[in-house]
Amino acid sequence: MNDILVKARNNKYAIGGFNFNFYDDALGIISAAYELKSPIILMASEGCVKFLGVKHIVNFVNQLKDEYNIPIILHLDHGKDIEIIKNCIDNKFDSIMYDGSLLNFEENIKNTKFIADLCHDKGMTIEGELGRISGAEENIENSEDVFTDPDSVAEFTERSDVDSLAVAIGNAHGLYKGRPRLDFERLSKINKISKVPLVLHGGTGIPYEDIQKAIQLGISKVNVGTEIKIAYIKSIKKHLETINDNDIRHLVSMVQNDIKELVKQYLDIFGTANKYSQLQSM
Ligand code: 13P
Repeated sequence: MNDILVKARNNKYAIGGFNFNFYDDALGIISAAYELKSPIILMASEGCVKFLGVKHIVNFVNQLKDEYNIPIILHLDHGKDIEIIKNCIDNKFDSIMYDGSLLNFEENIKNTKFIADLCHDKGMTIEGELGRISGAEENIENSEDVFTDPDSVAEFTERSDVDSLAVAIGNAHGLYKGRPRLDFERLSKINKISKVPLVLHGGTGIPYEDIQKAIQLGISKVNVGTEIKIAYIKSIKKHLETINDNDIRHLVSMVQNDIKELVKQYLDIFGTANKYSQLQSM
């Protein structure tokens, strides 16, 4: 994960982190990356881990890694529960996000550093969060933004030993009420200070041109979750009428295909198409 994000940062493109909840959407996401020869981050939330089971997730993602010859990174998104985090580490996820955004600065550093040490011992990477990203999604419900303070970035990243940093710059999880207004000036300041790549959460609903501007100003990973869930449901509704009786595999293939097309659009916006070959020459 580290090499991939650093390369993205140096070359001003971003890697897509997409939340999945089933095998079907995971396959749609990976097929998009495969067609565009792009690295990809598959993100399981704690809810997804509880629903599918850690071992099942790791097994099927490992199988997909073997089948599709592209870099696929399995990442725990917004880990808060120490048992779930340890289980993902023990079962060889590639990367963990520790979300200490509800804690005070010192406690966030202390807990993030604790998880960072566990991850680094196993050769895994860790993403931390400084500030608080608002919005509602699964086990995250923050009514209030706390924007990332550029003056705290150096201390947080050094003391917590994170490999990447999620920033709060006006982005939010779930659906935005109006057009989101990202604080680009703040992002630019943070990027000048941060020694580690920056992550933009809440990708759903951010206008494509704003995502691209954020990438030019230092974002190296963009998370998209809600849009995948919406696409899944919409696709089922759209195709349900067209299938014959019990042709469930046909329906699921159409859903996978719709998710693949959506993810391809995002990968195009993020500028990651054909970046796999760049990574091979590292
Ligand atoms: P959205 O669901 O708003 O796209 O955000 C996803 C996310 O940031 C997951 O960490």
